[in-house]
Amino acid sequence: MSSEQLLHQIRLNGTIPRHVAIIMDGNGRWARERGRPREFGHRAGMTSVRAAVEAAGDAGVEVLTLFAFSSENWQRPQGEVSALMALLELYVRRERKELKEKGIEVRAVGDLHRLGPRTRAAIQSIVDHTRGGPKMRLNLAISYGARDEIVTAARRLAERVREGTLMPGEIDEELFAEQLYFADVPDPDLLIRTSGEMRISNFMLWQLAYTEMYVSPVLWPDFGREHLFRAILDFQQRERRFGRVLAS
Ligand code: FPP
Repeated sequence: MSSEQLLHQIRLNGTIPRHVAIIMDGNGRWARERGRPREFGHRAGMTSVRAAVEAAGDAGVEVLTLFAFSSENWQRPQGEVSALMALLELYVRRERKELKEKGIEVRAVGDLHRLGPRTRAAIQSIVDHTRGGPKMRLNLAISYGARDEIVTAARRLAERVREGTLMPGEIDEELFAEQLYFADVPDPDLLIRTSGEMRISNFMLWQLAYTEMYVSPVLWPDFGREHLFRAILDFQQRERRFGRVLAS
């Protein structure tokens, strides 16, 4: 089936995941298979980012979250970190105009203070430029770690308790979730991880509680429009129970 036939089938099925999150994995292996440096794989991965954003928008996904750089990725060799930062800057330069035209609102989530000033400025520029885009939200998780996100939320609430503006008993799931990066979007319905790895890797630990997972064997640079559509079609066949028993 062509990708357009897949898209047609998705529309016939009806239930579109509102929020899709993707762990983009396998750039390094893709490069190694070609005898090239890891950076070469990341660069090819940027093309897949473009395809995924376009395909998600076409399918009617409201929120797309991409894990672009984890808090653990800082420990990679300096050259690779610099290459990834340069790619983020390149992505912003290349895509800013088109994302704005397509109505895609970009946000960055993560500990952005650790980024260098040039990368931070680039990210800020795409966030400012695309603000209010009505078609889809694109969250770029950069220097992001879910445990850190949760600890930061706990610290913020503890501060309020110390100030006397909050009682410990008032802390519930809703209030806690409001402190997290993804407070203003629904939890992901579908998590895609490429390259066959069956791990969460410190990604959105709170928000993934009831998310459907889809692991694709395809390496991220080879993951295209039709692969995203196949993941959505697979999601549409699932029976989501959220821990309950469905009435028969
Ligand atoms: C994982 O592959 C991928 C990353 C650490 C970075 C993802 C970055 C991109 C796709 C490019 C730029 C992103 C944007 C948003 C423009 P890996 O290096 O862990 O691969 P491996 O597991 O095969 O070694």
